[in-house]
Amino acid sequence: MLSARGLVKRYGQVTAIDGADFDLMPDEVLAVIGDNGAGKTSLIKALTGALVPDAGEIRLNGEPIRFAGPQDARARGIETVYQDLAVAPSMDIASNMFLGREIRRRGVLGSVFRLLDRKTMREQAAAHLASLKVGIGSLTQPVETLSGGQRQAVAVARAAAWARSVVVMDEPTAALGVKESGQVLDLIRRIRDSGVPVILISHNMPHVFEIADRVHVHRLGRREAVIKPSEYSMAEVVAIMTGALSVSPDGGTVVADSDAASAAGVHAS
Ligand SMILES: Nc1ncnc2c1ncn2[C@@H]1O[C@H](COP(=O)(O)OP(=O)(O)OP(=O)(O)O)[C@@H](O)[C@H]1O
Ligand SMILES: [Mg+2]
Repeated sequence: MLSARGLVKRYGQVTAIDGADFDLMPDEVLAVIGDNGAGKTSLIKALTGALVPDAGEIRLNGEPIRFAGPQDARARGIETVYQDLAVAPSMDIASNMFLGREIRRRGVLGSVFRLLDRKTMREQAAAHLASLKVGIGSLTQPVETLSGGQRQAVAVARAAAWARSVVVMDEPTAALGVKESGQVLDLIRRIRDSGVPVILISHNMPHVFEIADRVHVHRLGRREAVIKPSEYSMAEVVAIMTGALSVSPDGGTVVADSDAASAAGVHAS
């Protein structure tokens, strides 16, 4: 669905992306994990038009592509949920769902006087939230009066509403409690089941293991491994992330740093 080969991005002396490869399959939740500074956000920015790589190739549905900017990626069906600035707090839920894509009234009221068709937007927002099973009282409620989890749900639902190709989420559960995180994870599953693949950046290993079909492990600016959570333990995945273990071509693990591996409590298989 979305892939990259040999991406490079340098900021002066710092190489944020160092020859990274990436592959997102249709119908999957792909988690992207890695230590702080490994280059996950930079990789995602390159894949969503928010930064222009110095080198490398990106393909969408097999076609080579260069995004002119985030709006270009959005126009091609790639929606990104950022951890902050996800919603406009003082606006109501329906307005947030249609932010930047407002429906105008028909005729001169819309074309000349730019009046919004609030009724249609409310109806469509309600139908969409209901289809995602997001339970929110009133759509005219300002988003700032919602709980953190409900707010996140609105941001995720908005992305799901507009995404035709891919939904990308950078730490969507970082600030959420157990119940709220569960709701966002459910929503991610429903998006995937509706046929839109999801890229999930997360530091939360239990969430990653609960929801991801595959895990892209990022280390020192590039893809270190891609694993299936059913085939590895959390300790092994953390060890791959930190460089204590490496994955051999046959899929087994090899001890790269025996002290670090024994500290993590894992051995090669
Ligand atoms: N705009 C920038 N200018 C200079 N250096 C940058 C810039 N953006 C990222 N970097 C550097 O690139 C490296 C990768 O950063 P990035 O934000 O992609 O990491 P990350 O994996 O998302 O980390 P975290 O888990 O902490 O969010 C870091 O060393 C960072 O300091
Ligand atoms: Mg980051």
